[in-house]
Amino acid sequence: MYIPEEKISDILNTADIVDVISESVILKKSGRNFFGLCPFHSEKTPSFSVNPSKQIFYCFGCSAGGNVLSYTMKYHGITFPEAAKMLAHKYQITIETKAISPGKRNQLNLKEGLLRLNKTIMGVYFDGLKNSKQGEKARQYLQRRGISDEIIQTFKLGFSQDSWDAIVTVLKRQKISRKVAVQSGLILERKSNNGYYDRFRNRIMFPIFDVNMQVAGFGGRVMDDAMPKYMNSPETPVYTKSRILYGLHAAKQFCRQEGFVYIVEGYFDFLSLYQHGIKNTVASLGTALTSDHVRMLKGYASRMVLVFDSDAAGINAAKRSIEIFMKEGVDTRILVLPEGNDPDSYMVKHGQDAFNDLASRARTVMQFLLQVAIDTHGLSVEGRIRILEEMKPHLSLIRDSALRSLYVKELAETLNIDEKAVLEKVREQYLKQDTRTAGLMNEKPDQAKLASDRREEQLISMMLNYPEILDEIKRRDVLAYFYSEKLKRIGKKIISVDPDTTAFITNVMAKMDTNEDQALIASYAMNDIVSEQDMHQTALVIINRIIRVRTKQENTLTTKIISAEKGCDAELMELLKQKQAEIQQLQNRL
Ligand code: CTP
Ligand code: MN
Repeated sequence: MYIPEEKISDILNTADIVDVISESVILKKSGRNFFGLCPFHSEKTPSFSVNPSKQIFYCFGCSAGGNVLSYTMKYHGITFPEAAKMLAHKYQITIETKAISPGKRNQLNLKEGLLRLNKTIMGVYFDGLKNSKQGEKARQYLQRRGISDEIIQTFKLGFSQDSWDAIVTVLKRQKISRKVAVQSGLILERKSNNGYYDRFRNRIMFPIFDVNMQVAGFGGRVMDDAMPKYMNSPETPVYTKSRILYGLHAAKQFCRQEGFVYIVEGYFDFLSLYQHGIKNTVASLGTALTSDHVRMLKGYASRMVLVFDSDAAGINAAKRSIEIFMKEGVDTRILVLPEGNDPDSYMVKHGQDAFNDLASRARTVMQFLLQVAIDTHGLSVEGRIRILEEMKPHLSLIRDSALRSLYVKELAETLNIDEKAVLEKVREQYLKQDTRTAGLMNEKPDQAKLASDRREEQLISMMLNYPEILDEIKRRDVLAYFYSEKLKRIGKKIISVDPDTTAFITNVMAKMDTNEDQALIASYAMNDIVSEQDMHQTALVIINRIIRVRTKQENTLTTKIISAEKGCDAELMELLKQKQAEIQQLQNRL
């Protein structure tokens, strides 16, 4: 279903966010904002705010934020069109579906077709497990693995018949478009080009739901030692592996309640934990975790516990994932299970109390990396030196100096090396990383970046709260002087909205592609420390400063390069050019 843009605007201009949110949260007025307990994370004192004049909400605790549409989606766990329909209904706005471009129509049709087909086939597999004769061995298999009927029901587990054309036949009988059927990956074309055959045969079937409860794809497991153990749907327009986590649709509310999420690898790991009451869990399905995954999860939990097997593959997977979590700035713990266990087998053998106990002792990333280094190199003299070398880059990346010194102390104690010597090593590394980018700038690079970010963020806040300034910003092409590509992108979206629209901020939000960007807009819009009468003057000061700093920095470098060129100092010139590129890169970093 496609909803025309004007209708979205109508909804945003008519709906009242305080009115809508009051249906689910008790709000109390305080100053210009309303406050209440955040429905998206657990808290005892209200940090969830709603601003009626800007028509936005923002939680100072968990950074959730957006407009009335994003609230409705997030609160009810529904899609954008569903939320729009719900609000349109509440405010008596009629939505007639509008003609859209044929290309877009086709794409939407294909997606809808795929989702509908997957849902139908999920029903076929589910029925195959519950009622078919062949399904008996699948029922027994699941029973042997301790999976309850309730779990089978909740996650709609199924069975694909031992047949080459069970699904092919269903598709024919139901006259399902060949194109959609082939795209879904449920059937494959025969090599000899005469007809099609089923992808999933004689397997336990796991429908993979997206976060809106739609069936995006399937995984299927054999019931013996045959290979391959698992078979999966291919990527399709409705199944992007880097963006789907198994079980999130069911786990999300529990992740919010608990404030953290366990990340396991397999279907059975997830189901087993869920069945034993540990419902704040998702499974990565054996694929590498991506920053998209982490960002999605961040909407539901601030702490993440990676649960891995203790075999070499598990340890390596953990090491690979850590960097992504560090980059996203998430509080991450690593839970390595005792030798020979995965979360499922551990749970079946030892039960949930034992699991919870183990989980409470999950290691921090540093403790984990240190343990792995010790296991690899041992604690001989050479071993300890190697460990120090290996840990030094990790330690030097910790920004918080208090935390860093704690880890340095711990490392020194574990290795029985003088703390000062460890600190010296870490500092060495830190300087090595730092001089690559410092030097030519007056401010230290991180400070320079912080300062430019702050200026640019402040201007974005003002653009939202004082759209009268947009003309000036367009006229002087201020966004071209932004260092942050992210803020530049957001700025461009802001200036594309007519400053005279009512509900300006919430219309800007509607232009954002992701929930994160919407939440960012909410947080910038809430930041209105400048009083109304000073707006214009302050905005001009910031604009001038943004332009001046960037122009000056580029001039300084250019002058140095020119004089180095004159003096034929090739080495210096090379160095300068390199610096210029590096600074550019650094500033462009998100
Ligand atoms: N996987 C896959 N294809 C394979 C093997 C694994 O897609 N050939 C994915 C599956 O999602 C699986 C996960 O990786 O659940 C973890 O793999 P593994 O640990 O081998 O399987 P388990 O989940 O432990 O399955 P089981 O307990 O049934 O052996
Ligand atoms: Mn397993």
